[in-house]
Parts: sequence; C-alpha cells; structure tokens
Amino acid sequence: MTCQQLAITAFGDVNNLQLQSAETPVPEGRQVLVGVSFAGVNPIDAKTRAGLGWAAQQNQDKLPWVPGYDMSGVILAVGEEVTQWTVGQHVCGFVGFPLAGGCYSEQVLADAETLSAVPETVSLAHAAALPLAGQTALQALEKASVKPGERVLILAGAGGVGHLAVQLAKAKGAVVLATCSADNLEFLSALGAEAIDYRAQALNTGMKPVDVLIDLVGGEAGIEAQACVKPGGRVVTVPTITAEAVNASAKMAGLHAQGMLVSPSVAQNDLMLAMMAKGELKLHISEHFNLEAGAQAHRQIETGRTRGKIVLVMKG
Ligand SMILES: NC(=O)c1ccc[n+]([C@@H]2O[C@H](COP(=O)([O-])OP(=O)(O)OC[C@H]3O[C@@H](n4cnc5c(N)ncnc54)[C@H](OP(=O)(O)O)[C@@H]3O)[C@@H](O)[C@H]2O)c1
Repeated sequence: MTCQQLAITAFGDVNNLQLQSAETPVPEGRQVLVGVSFAGVNPIDAKTRAGLGWAAQQNQDKLPWVPGYDMSGVILAVGEEVTQWTVGQHVCGFVGFPLAGGCYSEQVLADAETLSAVPETVSLAHAAALPLAGQTALQALEKASVKPGERVLILAGAGGVGHLAVQLAKAKGAVVLATCSADNLEFLSALGAEAIDYRAQALNTGMKPVDVLIDLVGGEAGIEAQACVKPGGRVVTVPTITAEAVNASAKMAGLHAQGMLVSPSVAQNDLMLAMMAKGELKLHISEHFNLEAGAQAHRQIETGRTRGKIVLVMKG
C-alpha cells in the first residue's frame, strides 16, 4: 500500500513542493496510523520550505522532507501496546514538532499519547487547524500571565494564532484590543476585541496603556507597539526570527519581555476542543486546498494576510 504526500524537494520557492508516493507505514508499539483528512497550514511550513529556521537547518540533509505539524483524521491501525485508541476513531494532534513534521501526507504515524479525540460537534477540518495555532495562542497568554480585568493588546488579531488568542484572552476575563487591516475590523469586533486598524493611525494615539502586549507580527511592528504598554508591563513576542531585537527594545523601555517556542500539549488541545464543542471558541477557516494545490496554500500563507486558518484536504 502507498500514500500520497507533499514534500519539500529543495529549499526555495513553492515549486519545490512536489507530490510523492510513499509506502504506508505500519504502526509499532505505542504508535497509531492515522488516515489524514485535513492538515493545518502554518507560516513555519513555508519558512522551512524557504530554508529558514531551525527545522530547515536540521532537515537540510534529509530532503525530500514532508512538512506539516497538525492534522486530523481517522485511526486506521494501532501498534500492539496501544490501549486507548481503536480503529475508526476521529483524532487530531500536534505531531512531529519541530523535527519530524510529516502531516502533509494521506497517512501519518503518531505516538498514541500525542493525539486528542475530536468531539462529534467539531468538524475534522476545524480540528486539524487548531493544534499548533491554538496552543501557541494559549501558551503566549500563559507566558504573559494574563489576569482578569487586564488590558491585552494582540498584534495580528485576525491571523491563525491571533483570532484564537483574542477569544482565549476574553475567556480569561481580559479586555482585548487587537490590530488588523480595515478588511478585518468587523471580523475581530465579532470575536469580542476592540479592533484597531494599524494602517489608519499610530497605535498609541489616544490609547489607554495596556498591561500586556502579545506580538504576533514581530520586527518594527512589535517594537513600535511597545509604546502602548504601561511602565513595567509584559511583552510576549511570538515570531522567533525577530524575538531578540523585540526583547532587547522592550527591556530598554523597562518592560518584561520574552520570546517563546510553542510546546505540544494534549491537555491544552483537549481543553480547546471542548471549548469549540461548546461554542466557546470559534475557529475560522478561510480556505481549503487540495493536497495537489499545496503550492497555492503556501503562496496564501506567505502573503501574511490570511484571515484565520487555511487547511489542506486529504484523501487519507
Ligand atoms: N514561536 C512559535 O512557537 C510560533 C508558533 C506559531 C506561530 N509563530 C509565528 O507567529 C506569527 C503569527 O502566526 P499566524 O499563524 O497567526 O500567522 P498568519 O495566520 O499568517 O497571520 C496572518 C495575519 O497577520 C495579520 N498581519 C500581517 N501584518 C500585520 C501587521 N503589521 N499588524 C497587524 N496584523 C498584521 C494579517 O491581518 P491583516 O490582513 O488584517 O493585516 C493576517 O490576518 C508568524 O510569524 C508565525 O511564524 C511562532
């Protein structure tokens, strides 16, 4: 048996994403074979394809390499030590992060402990889009120790991580402000944020200072937004490539600043799936792409203008 995958054949542009055929793996021990229904597409996938970042460095001698860190699907087979899963169950997970990847594939092996059951009322597409972005959002808010009543400013509130962070911060009882372009003002207001068009005016014009800045843009935008944070306030900057510069500037301004690298957590994934099932967390998917159209999906994520999430559709 074989399965179709989309692999990075060389670092560079989207043409280096190529379909390949692979032997269907056989799960052993604590492993589970998942027939993938949907895979999430995240900015790190495109950065790695371009040859940027740690995952690219580590995998440069392992090309072709199959990207993708989150997926949903149906259990096709389990290893002999797996007791908590059975064939046919719907699961999702944040797997292979950051070294192995592998979710842009019709079938993927995952450790039994890394998976979550998908509640009946959550679609498999939404379940695939949640893990990496949702856990990043939750961990950023936890790193910032957001408390009820605090004012939290989220840069890039309309993106994959941002639109979830807005809702999770609201759920923590924070007053949420979030930046976006004019097209996304209504989208963010509907999620409960005070939406601010970052192109219309300087961010701190007339803004009451915030306790916490969650920076999902990085670079100059992350540095400029520090003017909105009260003295002694907290900054978490999420894009890793500019974290050092953003942190250095925040520290100069007397703010508590840190970068982060998301760390897979099944407990957090379960928590957010339960919130989605109860309608307390809404995940927005703006576009679905077939596996064959993976290059288009990468072009879209590289625009930096995606509203919510995009997913790849599989035949696993
Ligand atoms: N450190 C980690 O562990 C970790 C984990 C996950 C993600 N990340 C990084 O975090 C960043 C966000 O990830 P993501 O998945 O949310 O990305 P994404 O979905 O591609 O973000 C797209 C959004 O960014 C907004 N945006 C672009 N430029 C903006 C600006 N100057 N000000 C405000 N909003 C702006 C766009 O809104 P408009 O169209 O309205 O402008 C769009 O909705 C990426 O750099 C990603 O690589 C890091």
